[in-house]
Amino acid sequence: MENLPKRLAASGAVEIAVKLGSISGGRVLDVATESGDFINSLMKTLKAYDYFIGIDISKKALETARKRFAGQPVKLVEMNAELLEFDNESFDTVCMAYSLHHLNRIDKVLTEMHRVLKPGGHLIIQEEFRDGKQTEAQTTNILQHAWDAQIDSLLGETHKMTFTKDKVEEIIGSLQLERVETFESTRPLFCLFCEKALGCEDPKWERTLKGSLEEIDAGLKRLAEVADPKARIRLQKQGEELKERNRKFGNESPSQLFAIGEKA
Ligand SMILES: C[S@@+](CC[C@H](N)C(=O)[O-])C[C@H]1O[C@@H](n2cnc3c(N)ncnc32)[C@H](O)[C@@H]1O
Repeated sequence: MENLPKRLAASGAVEIAVKLGSISGGRVLDVATESGDFINSLMKTLKAYDYFIGIDISKKALETARKRFAGQPVKLVEMNAELLEFDNESFDTVCMAYSLHHLNRIDKVLTEMHRVLKPGGHLIIQEEFRDGKQTEAQTTNILQHAWDAQIDSLLGETHKMTFTKDKVEEIIGSLQLERVETFESTRPLFCLFCEKALGCEDPKWERTLKGSLEEIDAGLKRLAEVADPKARIRLQKQGEELKERNRKFGNESPSQLFAIGEKA
């Protein structure tokens, strides 16, 4: 993590990595793991670990992770986090990144995550939030995410607008953990290990813009499957406005909360 670009170095992500470096993860469960970005970051930051189990409700979401972690101590299982198929207190660390707003029943998932964690074990939550002081480029990302989430919702998938910071804190508070430490960062943890980190210092970097416009085009394509014509027209227009906004202000990750606590 030496020689990090300036804005990334000042983002708050380094402090999170330092904290993780003091934790021996043991048996780690990553809930809603998708392509395994969070497992990858934890492998690079935790002081030690025995193995990871990543679960996701979507078989397709796990495909990338399966290839990525071949030959490594990572097991990937298709499973609903509302009903974890693990014994009580069977993990030393249980975590979830960027998924609270994707859950149909947050309460059920958190209860399950708490159940399978051993007393004294670490529970880690990372989630972005939509309010507070955000740059114009971060606001682009927040608006684009809300637009994308609306399309997913119209197509029957649970995908909510990113929560406010207070809401994320309230959700974390509901876990009644001990020794909770909360960090705030303007960059995701994985940026510390990303080859694109230098380019991403500029929110209008051409690769960022290209990726973002491609994501909007993918959303517009999905929009064609939405049955309600009024919603289609409204979201089509918003999609074009978002393209303009990306060109004008750029796009970068919203601010994030990162909480680590211990089970009593
Ligand atoms: C934004 S992605 C997760 C990103 C990932 N954790 C990372 O760090 O890059 C949200 C994931 O939540 C998963 N998901 C939603 N509801 C779930 C549930 N009830 N059980 C397990 N996974 C779920 C989705 O399939 C999706 O892959």
